[in-house]
Amino acid sequence: MQIFTKVSDLQNHLSQLRGQGLSIGFVPTMGALHSGHLALIDHASRENDISIISIFVNPTQFNNKTDLAKYPREVDSDIAKLEKTGCDIIFLPSEEEMYPEKTESVKINLNGLDTVMEGAHRPGHFDGVATIVGRFFEIVNPTKAYFGEKDFQQLLIIRQLTKVMGFDVEIIPHPIERSQKGLALSSRNQLLSAEDQEKSLIIWQSLNWMKENYKDHSPQELINLVSQRFEGSELELEYAQIVNENTLLPLDSWSNTDPARAFIAAYISGVRLIDNLQLI
Ligand code: PAJ
Repeated sequence: MQIFTKVSDLQNHLSQLRGQGLSIGFVPTMGALHSGHLALIDHASRENDISIISIFVNPTQFNNKTDLAKYPREVDSDIAKLEKTGCDIIFLPSEEEMYPEKTESVKINLNGLDTVMEGAHRPGHFDGVATIVGRFFEIVNPTKAYFGEKDFQQLLIIRQLTKVMGFDVEIIPHPIERSQKGLALSSRNQLLSAEDQEKSLIIWQSLNWMKENYKDHSPQELINLVSQRFEGSELELEYAQIVNENTLLPLDSWSNTDPARAFIAAYISGVRLIDNLQLI
């Protein structure tokens, strides 16, 4: 496994590999790696000759300074975890390498996908994500890039970015990896006590409850009932939404043609958790 920190060194190396006709599978991350990230790397290794992961805590996608400061950083243990996988290359750039001019987002037309849910509650977040992923795609020029459905809205936004910018990369989704009890794996989970993690299971339980009961209720009724469940818990619900999973527009009734997906964002002990589940 090779580690690169400089854009130019990585580009030289990758262009040699590409010259040999090798395919490149790319997994962008912000580190503090868990089994969800490692599953993405496995996916990339299986489908490509070369797999590459980037680890970079991207400042422009944090709308909240405390969240950025608190974000776990543990590069040494990340490298140790990657040694045990099929990962070929780690890219560990500095902020100066990724933002040589100014650490700020560029505005890309995200077709309104950035105005709902995470976009509505985290202003500027997706501009930051699109900016950094666009920069990574230019540097790495991957054959395929892998994104988790845990950040389902991000996945759609990356597809839109790829279309608008004309990147020649195939975007591959990866299902949500969960703890045995169902909590979606997240780097933020380690900021929670075992007890808080147990309480957070209400998110997964609520999503499942919606999937089991959607036939008996309208989307709005389901959301109201889920909101009531949260009121009796220690989690503060930021939003529960049911949307068409292609457009992210809210559904006010069920139809046979609209694929429906439920999304939840909630806080516990100051930590923000998100999850989602396809209903139909
Ligand atoms: P990060 O939160 O580190 O996630 C990196 C990738 O891992 C994302 O595609 C995310 O959806 C995926 N992932 C995280 N938890 C997962 C889980 N439990 N199951 C499946 N996939 C999971 O997402 C980002 O970083 C950043 O926004 C980034 C794209 C790197 C841009 O900075």
